[in-house]
Amino acid sequence: MPALLSIRNLKVSLKNPENGQVGWVLRGVDLDLAPGERLALVGESGCGKSMTALSILRLLPQPPMEFSGGGIRFAERDLEGLSAREWREIRGKEIGIVFQEPLTSLNPVMPVGAQIEEAIQNHRSAPPGEARQKVLSLLKEVGLPDGERIARQYPHQLSGGMCQRVMIAMAIACGPSLLIADEPTTALDVTVQAQILELLFRNTRRYL
Ligand SMILES: Nc1ncnc2c1ncn2[C@@H]1O[C@H](COP(=O)(O)OP(=O)(O)OP(=O)(O)O)[C@@H](O)[C@H]1O
Ligand SMILES: [Mg+2]
Repeated sequence: MPALLSIRNLKVSLKNPENGQVGWVLRGVDLDLAPGERLALVGESGCGKSMTALSILRLLPQPPMEFSGGGIRFAERDLEGLSAREWREIRGKEIGIVFQEPLTSLNPVMPVGAQIEEAIQNHRSAPPGEARQKVLSLLKEVGLPDGERIARQYPHQLSGGMCQRVMIAMAIACGPSLLIADEPTTALDVTVQAQILELLFRNTRRYL
């Protein structure tokens, strides 16, 4: 089976704006991921796990970082040289992402239901009633059955675990074939960590 994601010799460099010195952030990363497969990146703090994830989505902080070589293929497409419009199609729809800090990743001044609805509407225009139903079914799927009430709440009214579930609901809203999770449980306590991992595993199985 062809790889869903294939990274070859990925190199990212970092230029110090003060003295112009260049250092490596990623130096020759190779990885392959088959459809339905799960892959965990493990390594010490600062070794480049988050930057690898951001490179796949072309969300690196550029500058000071810069792609310095290698290639990334996703679903048999070269991700080099895609237009901004093509990237909007891929991010969120074909590749979902869950970040480490649920509270800072959500919009603090918008009810969470509206944020999930926006994630759906960004990629296909659904009639408002249908999108709202989808929000409720997503909330149920991520273990928040009281969706009607939760959808009206703002992030600060929810616990860290609930916010992380909302982030996962947004990330899976469009049924992406690749879900990138960057330390999705670091900000959570141990029992909630286990529940979130179980939830992510359940969702990856669905895409097999
Ligand atoms: N915005 C930034 N500007 C400059 N350098 C950065 C930036 N973000 C990260 N770096 C550097 O890039 C390197 C890789 O960082 P990265 O965030 O990928 O590490 P990580 O493996 O995710 O670490 P952690 O486990 O702490 O999350 C580090 O050496 C870090 O100092
Ligand atoms: Mg990181």
